[in-house]
Amino acid sequence: MVSRLTAGSGGTRDANNRTGIFLVDVFGNELLLHAEPPGCFNPTPLGPAVRPTVIPTRRDFQQAEGTFYVQDVYQGSFMSGVPRGTIKSLRVVESPEKRYWVPGSWGGQGVHHPGVNWHSFETKRILGTVPVEPDGSVHFSVPSDTFLYFQLLDEDGMMIQSMRSGTVVQSGETTGCIGCHDDRRSAPLLDGQQPVGMALSQAPHPMTGWRGTTETFNYMTEVQPVFDQHCASCHDYGQEAGETLNLAADRNLIFNTSYNELWRRGMIRVVGGGPAETQPAYAWGSHASRLVRVLRNEEPSHEPVKLSPDEFARVVTWIDLNGVFYPDYATSYPNHPGGRSPLDSAQISQLARLTGHDLGRQFHHGRNQGPLVSFDRPELSPILAGFDSVENPDYVQALEILRAGQAQLAQRPDVGMEGFRLSGIDLWREQKYQQRRQLESQFREAIRAGEKRYDEPVAEPSQ
Ligand code: HEC
Ligand code: HEC
Repeated sequence: MVSRLTAGSGGTRDANNRTGIFLVDVFGNELLLHAEPPGCFNPTPLGPAVRPTVIPTRRDFQQAEGTFYVQDVYQGSFMSGVPRGTIKSLRVVESPEKRYWVPGSWGGQGVHHPGVNWHSFETKRILGTVPVEPDGSVHFSVPSDTFLYFQLLDEDGMMIQSMRSGTVVQSGETTGCIGCHDDRRSAPLLDGQQPVGMALSQAPHPMTGWRGTTETFNYMTEVQPVFDQHCASCHDYGQEAGETLNLAADRNLIFNTSYNELWRRGMIRVVGGGPAETQPAYAWGSHASRLVRVLRNEEPSHEPVKLSPDEFARVVTWIDLNGVFYPDYATSYPNHPGGRSPLDSAQISQLARLTGHDLGRQFHHGRNQGPLVSFDRPELSPILAGFDSVENPDYVQALEILRAGQAQLAQRPDVGMEGFRLSGIDLWREQKYQQRRQLESQFREAIRAGEKRYDEPVAEPSQ
């Protein structure tokens, strides 16, 4: 006779509709062994077993910070050729979440809504730069729940290697890495005389911002003033050196003159949205950029330039942050081309017709023809160069459109410019974001108190 234990769910209730544990024989006879209200489900045979190890939670939902530790930054298959002693500090960069988006687009390596940078999609905020110990170890605390990545810097503050993904530490969590990653089959370095790096014998370094701020990086306020001060006297519209490389500040349809030029002419070597492969040390960034050779007076044919250490730091840091432009995804021109142009599509079409330039190409990195428009000095716009007379009615009309763009920007400054204000649906998005942050902190309180709290919907925009 075969018998088995069955749980009393579904078809194994008895005639009285009781659920329980029955012994059932091959003839269908059921013998109740055990029942209890409201019924027994999924009985588990009990036997001696070793209690599994409980891994304690590493987060505590109390602190606004967590801690990272790197054992030896010289470890890593993409660190070969970096002699010990070369790395002086580690920079922590946040890539903040995208809270605003628009219909207008820029064609970088991937489509941006709105245009943010020439190639890559992110805005960047430097949270801090911490010293790396001589043995390559480094220990630092960072805001928890914040998407960030690390860069290794030499004594000149120039990037040697950079992480290109991001990571997050949770509230109160401490976590560490061996180095700039290595073969996933290799083990931590516990065989040397110094299994624990020097940095761990000290408290973690705090984040202290960059140049006294933790604002997101803004090309127009950090980098452009250096070019205005030291380069634009020669590298401007109407100057010979300006034809080779124009470093003027003038705002154009989507970025500005110098930014457009430096990228398009390959003066900076940055990764953008690709290549996908992990890059060796020194492969990109300030060390690999032609612009920096001029700044360090390594181009013998160029006039000597003399930047202060602070000015030098601003330019190389910008390159090492991957050549970013806008400090935020917000915009004053959501429905205009690129999500950035102060001129609308009708004005741009009219300008294109009057001047014979295909302006649609301006909103794509690969088809971009270089700066064609200046909203700071409309009459210097290269797009007007084809006219033989300023009396030409088409010239007059084209200039009028450019001046209308200039007036528009003055009236409604874009993000990163003084006087910018969030507007339209972005106001609601910001409010929703802040409400969710508040809810999140309430949830954390509830978790700490061992209570349950449920999500509440956020009100729709009233428009
Ligand atoms: C400056 C060198 C460097 C350091 C130091 C470093 N990383 Fe990275 N990390 C990289 C690189 C390079 C990648 C790969 C990105 C790429 O090129 O695609 C990466 C990727 C990652 C990823 C993403 C993996 C994936 O599959 O997307 C995580 C997570 C990460 N690192 C966490 C950490 C943590 C945690 C630490 C130590 C606290 C750390 N990293 C230290 C260089 C570094
Ligand atoms: C006194 C005038 C002058 C100043 C100031 C000046 N430059 Fe130049 N620059 C030139 C000239 C002239 C050229 C060469 C133009 C040519 O090749 O036709 C040049 C070329 C360059 C090039 C291209 C180099 C190459 O190898 O192709 C870069 C990059 C550059 N300058 C950057 C700068 C930067 C950055 C500054 C400010 C820090 C600056 N220049 C200041 C005159 C100047």
